[in-house]
Amino acid sequence: MILLRRALIILGLLCSNGAQAQRLPGGVRPEHYALTLTPDLAKARFTGSETIDIVLDAPANRISLNAAEIEFQSVRARVGDSIASSQIATVTLDPEKQQATFAFAKELPAGPITLEIAYTGILNDKLRGFYLSRTRQRAYGVTQFESTDARRAFPSFDEPALKATFNVSLVIEAGDTAISNTQPISDTPGPVAGKHTIAFATTPKMSTYLVAWLVGDFQCSEGKQDGIKIRACATPDKIAMTKFALDAAKWDLHYYNQYFGIRYPLAKLDLIAIPDFDAGAMENFGCITFRETDLLIDKKDDDLSARKQVAETIAHELSHQWFGDLVTPAWWNDIWLNEGFATWMESKATASWKPQWGVPDDDALDKEHTMDRDASSSTHAIRTRAETPAEIDELFDDITYGKAGAVIAMVEHWVGEEAFRKGLQAYLAAHAYGSATAEDLWDAETRASGFPVDRVMRSFVDQPGVPLVTLANAGAGVQALQRRFLIAGTSSVPSSAKQAWTIPLCFTGQPCTLLIPATSDAATNLPPLKSDANAESKGYYRTEYLPPLLEQVEGTASAGLSVAERISLVGDQWALVRAGQNDVGKFLNLVFTLKQDPSAKVMSLALSDVDTVESEIATEEDRRSIDAILRRNFSPVLAAMDKPRRESPDHAQLREALFEMLGHAHDPGVLADAETMTQRIFAKKKLADPTLADAAVALATTTGDAAMYDRLMKVASNTADPRLQQEAMNSLTRFESADMVAKTLDFALSNAVRSQDSSTLMAQMLERRQTQDQAWEYVQQHWPEILRKATSSSGARIVAAAGSFCTVERRDEVALFFRGHDAGTSPRALRQSLDRINECIHLRAAQEPALRSWLQQKSVSP
Ligand code: BES
Ligand code: ZN
Repeated sequence: MILLRRALIILGLLCSNGAQAQRLPGGVRPEHYALTLTPDLAKARFTGSETIDIVLDAPANRISLNAAEIEFQSVRARVGDSIASSQIATVTLDPEKQQATFAFAKELPAGPITLEIAYTGILNDKLRGFYLSRTRQRAYGVTQFESTDARRAFPSFDEPALKATFNVSLVIEAGDTAISNTQPISDTPGPVAGKHTIAFATTPKMSTYLVAWLVGDFQCSEGKQDGIKIRACATPDKIAMTKFALDAAKWDLHYYNQYFGIRYPLAKLDLIAIPDFDAGAMENFGCITFRETDLLIDKKDDDLSARKQVAETIAHELSHQWFGDLVTPAWWNDIWLNEGFATWMESKATASWKPQWGVPDDDALDKEHTMDRDASSSTHAIRTRAETPAEIDELFDDITYGKAGAVIAMVEHWVGEEAFRKGLQAYLAAHAYGSATAEDLWDAETRASGFPVDRVMRSFVDQPGVPLVTLANAGAGVQALQRRFLIAGTSSVPSSAKQAWTIPLCFTGQPCTLLIPATSDAATNLPPLKSDANAESKGYYRTEYLPPLLEQVEGTASAGLSVAERISLVGDQWALVRAGQNDVGKFLNLVFTLKQDPSAKVMSLALSDVDTVESEIATEEDRRSIDAILRRNFSPVLAAMDKPRRESPDHAQLREALFEMLGHAHDPGVLADAETMTQRIFAKKKLADPTLADAAVALATTTGDAAMYDRLMKVASNTADPRLQQEAMNSLTRFESADMVAKTLDFALSNAVRSQDSSTLMAQMLERRQTQDQAWEYVQQHWPEILRKATSSSGARIVAAAGSFCTVERRDEVALFFRGHDAGTSPRALRQSLDRINECIHLRAAQEPALRSWLQQKSVSP
């Protein structure tokens, strides 16, 4: 009886959750859509006329499809070509499910049917569906459909596996142009005076979320690669900034044609920068859309990080043309097949274009961040149930991008580049123009390589969390044990804490060994360790070396380990502090051992961890002591680093990182230099050392005066250069005086800031210790205005930023506030933020005494 009750309750839970019901009922296969759209940019509305060719599996009276904020004028179904056989439908809407149901008096036969739909919709300002983007000059009509917003632009079977072909036509103003997935095949005046109609070629079979069109006066620069016409487009004033993007796209297209062994499937490729854009970029088939800062580069701007960001974004979206567009995940739970692959691939393609950029070491740094997130108990498996639009959107996170990308890189490193590529080629060829699942991928990889890729990938894709591999000397060799690695302090330790993985352990200079779950309780015997236990930092695991092995590895750090390996050494030691398995003092000693490290990347990781020690563990007084120790140790290092005549990017970044850190540590010389440089920058005078410009402004702003604030405010409000504007806005968030913080918060909600940037500004201020209390007060008081300006990702961004607090009081406020105020996020988003706060509270309590005694020791013997 009890058992039965329990079964009923579980069943009830499953059903009441209702999420499954968001999916379409099935039984209908869409084959072709013909769409004619007539936008009215001035009235922010559009009309649509649509035919959908479908095939019914069985006779039916009703057909359900997706529609949101659509008004239906008329719906008919036609069987074959005869008008006589056509029937008018009655339409009922279900706004909750974002579905419409067409009911027919006479049953429709199984087989082909054509639906004819006339409707109207709105051009919204929420940056999704068919929406308006504005410049000071005019309005543009553009689209963003991923994940579930095609249904706002046209009634559709809006699920990724329901692929069809599309014919798009746009009726637009005489002076305007339009861009869509394929090439225009006709451009005719009419249907009314003052308009013309552009019809685009039929697309290949593709998913609804990849359809796109844009209307306005976009202008393009043009190039050609492997017979494909490539254009990079922007609003007319920004056309000069498209050259770099075109060069990157040309390289990537050729690289992928070679790598995948399948040629780019369309006749043209457009990349378009849009003034209002919620994400960074979107891989619409043949018609990739971007935020302006992710596509445009000013020729005069030689900022390497800007170029890297643009190049990697283009490489990412272009790789999706194969991974995502040609072969598409059957459902959103496998969206890592898109995003994990593109994350891994963007590095590969960009590294081949610019080997001098050190892309693989950036990946090692990114992996540290990802593993930190994945060590929280509220993390999720790479493949995770996602049914509602909020759940689907939230899946686009560090795990889906960073972890999936890192797991793919680990497997490639283990089986070898060529074998891995063969598997990918087989997978793509087998599923082209169709959809696929995780199993399809790892089965193809297993066959191509002869390695048990399926076992390794399944263990990393379906289980949450990071493995911890513990190594100890044993006899002549080394013993390895594994278990789940968790940051201490989260309220609920998951029941799966005793998990185990199938892990390729690759030691530098030695062949890889497969650590298998059966041995999770017993140690696996390995040969003696010659150097690092995570070769090139390709493995997705944390390593713990038991003494004396740790001393042995740390001892060789500067000499024997690569940059990526030093990154993982520092990252692991810091993670062990957060897990309560290492003493913060020992970690700080490691940082100071590495103070002469020549790599900017190793240094920036070490310094950002020290920054976390300062903000999460230290008291005000501790901070002053740590700053003094930092100055004592690193000022001489920076002083010894003159700017060479020809400087490598890494050397420049190292100087910049040390300069900025020392400024934050109140080094008087650095602060004076920063002040002088900032004055020169504002006076538009040349700098002797432009490398330090950004850091100088960043330092000067924290204590900047009203005059400086006003100048930056002017730039943030008026410049036509999107990147400069972005930087000016970021600078505004760094001023620390209360009246300026208040001004910046008001600014974030004002009309001077685009809604794409509004929540990011507020999130930045919620994340910094110096501004977070005031920002939090403001967010709570202005919630309705925040929601009014919000895009679909704003809520998640703010909830995540609220996870930066570190006190019980704030944690309870955050919990209370978001339980009472809907941010449009799923419960997991709040849980993750509360866990982060709990972890920080725990870290402080656990390590404060250790930090204190380390500081005492230091003051005795510096
Ligand atoms: N497909 C995504 C964009 C996206 C994500 C749209 C979620 C809608 C919902 C695209 O391929 C992507 O990943 N863009 C990144 C940039 C990339 C370089 C990491 C983005 O927008 O941040
Ligand atoms: Zn992507």
